[in-house]
Amino acid sequence: MDLSRGVLVTGADGQLGAALCEEFADVPVVALTRADWDVTMPPPAGLPDVDLVLHAAAWTDVDGAEASPQDAAAVNVGGTQHARELGAPLVLFSTDYVFDGSRREPYVESDGPNPLSAYGRTKLQAEAVAGDDAWIVRTSWLYGWTGTNFVRTMLRLGAERDEVAVVDDQRGSPTYTGHLVAAVRQLLDLPRGIWHLSGGGDCTWAELAAAVFEEAGLDCHVRRVTTAELGRPAPRPAYAVLGSERPDAPNLPPWRQGLQECLERICR
Ligand SMILES: NC(=O)c1ccc[n+]([C@@H]2O[C@H](COP(=O)([O-])OP(=O)(O)OC[C@H]3O[C@@H](n4cnc5c(N)ncnc54)[C@H](OP(=O)(O)O)[C@@H]3O)[C@@H](O)[C@H]2O)c1
Repeated sequence: MDLSRGVLVTGADGQLGAALCEEFADVPVVALTRADWDVTMPPPAGLPDVDLVLHAAAWTDVDGAEASPQDAAAVNVGGTQHARELGAPLVLFSTDYVFDGSRREPYVESDGPNPLSAYGRTKLQAEAVAGDDAWIVRTSWLYGWTGTNFVRTMLRLGAERDEVAVVDDQRGSPTYTGHLVAAVRQLLDLPRGIWHLSGGGDCTWAELAAAVFEEAGLDCHVRRVTTAELGRPAPRPAYAVLGSERPDAPNLPPWRQGLQECLERICR
């Protein structure tokens, strides 16, 4: 895809937005934070014409969306509508949380969604608003070297405590932003529509926490608990592993390799 006029990144200071800005640094990047454009509002006047919109701005507080579903929808659904109004081809980022987690084998693109949470519902509505003409990238358990994410939280807690309680009955595919953005770049030469892009393999959150401590050399015990014990406001799918049925789908490296690369970047 010709990107000579550049790309526009929304949510540019989020963990995915930051990685996208790096990945596309060889072309002009219009990097917009919430301060530059609150996506609940129509696009500001004077934005340059670009070849592609990478729409990474989103309400990502899964539990908070249960209490404020309309605010979450304003960002996730309204924001996608506004991103579409820019008129350039669109990449929308969506989530494994559009599925209800009742399966025990990876969800593929044609599987029927049935979100359990308000967050999942807003993301599914956002997919509909983005339309068939967008690349809709469903990913899962995303983490990178900036922002608030599970890996960075575990690094902090693992340094402070002897033990952390982590749920061991939700299974998914941790996805490193650095690997996701490289796959998104490949996607631009492939047809639009829904694509599942996640780190290879799967684990539980407790297994991921244990891997973080092992890779980082932290002496912290993982106490394995159930989702019910933790009692978070938003229901989450027990099984949220994404697979692809599309023959050309870019393959991301195994999740443990993503973790190693992320930790190298954080610790260097
Ligand atoms: N994190 C995950 O595990 C995960 C999993 C699957 C899919 N996804 C999807 O991946 C995408 C990127 O998520 P992420 O993990 O990078 O999230 P993130 O780090 O929370 O970044 C989201 C960004 O959106 C911005 N934002 C929020 N409300 C906004 C508004 N009204 N106007 C403009 N910007 C706004 C945030 O700005 P502030 O910092 O100022 O709030 C932040 O920069 C999202 O579509 C998300 O649904 C994430």
